Amino acid sequence: MTQILEVSSEWLALREPADADARARELALSAAAILPPGPIVIHDLGSGTGSMMRWLAPLLPGPQTWVLHDWNADLTEQAIEGEPPRDRDNGAVSARASTGNLSDLLPADLAGASLVTASALLDVLTSREIHAIVDACVRSSCPALFALSVTGDVRSMPRDELDTEFERAFNAHQLRDADGRVQLGRYGAPLARGLFTEAGWQVSQSTTIWRLDHRQPVLLQAWFDGWIDAALEQEPALSAKATRYRQLRTSQIERGELAVEVHHVDLLAWPRT
Ligand SMILES: C[S@@+](CC[C@H](N)C(=O)[O-])C[C@H]1O[C@@H](n2cnc3c(N)ncnc32)[C@H](O)[C@@H]1O
Repeated sequence: MTQILEVSSEWLALREPADADARARELALSAAAILPPGPIVIHDLGSGTGSMMRWLAPLLPGPQTWVLHDWNADLTEQAIEGEPPRDRDNGAVSARASTGNLSDLLPADLAGASLVTASALLDVLTSREIHAIVDACVRSSCPALFALSVTGDVRSMPRDELDTEFERAFNAHQLRDADGRVQLGRYGAPLARGLFTEAGWQVSQSTTIWRLDHRQPVLLQAWFDGWIDAALEQEPALSAKATRYRQLRTSQIERGELAVEVHHVDLLAWPRT
């Protein structure tokens, strides 16, 4: 259960505006177009504090009910307690929480669902969890919109000769075995896409990019610190090089001179009619 402790509500709040700017609005509108008429029920997997609900609810028709799935009940509680977002027709959405491990998700859990969503999730899941999620969606014929899965590609401006070395170590860290859980990192989204395609579903994909620069210095510094710390945990031998690299990047952030693109993909999957 150490994974539960890794995601803080402070980190989710800090990244929420960048997530909102990056997610593929065109895929959300395509999802809206395939929803059945009448009241809709959306299951958000790995919901955290409800960032996906706050972004997506205003793009979908009402009335809407959200079921927020997460194994961290503290996070979903904050989502439920907050001001409910408004749907496209300006109605308040209702939300409830479902606490548990997504590896146990069953088709019956999605009974009556109109749409399954997730954001910033697939890269922190295991193969077993992604198989369970796709299987539940397919067997309940419920379309899925999975936003912001990291691809592992990072572009920094200005470039530095150590960028590639730290990027490689960070990507390896995402795939480590942590207490018996092997996360899929950048292979999470391709696995989900492949499983939906194998099931005969249609899948649309968009590249979605966090663009961090002088406008979000706090987020940029927090992202960089987390990224380099993970790389160092994976490859302690990089620590000698890390001192110069960290000083350089931190001073560039302080002067507003660093711009970073963190690449993600969004997927929309739906059954062929
Ligand atoms: C990176 S956070 C993203 C949260 C939220 N979707 C957002 O965009 O702000 C990933 C979330 O997934 C949850 N999570 C990760 N693995 C899970 C699992 N196997 N079962 C249930 N929840 C999980 C974490 O607790 C965390 O809230």
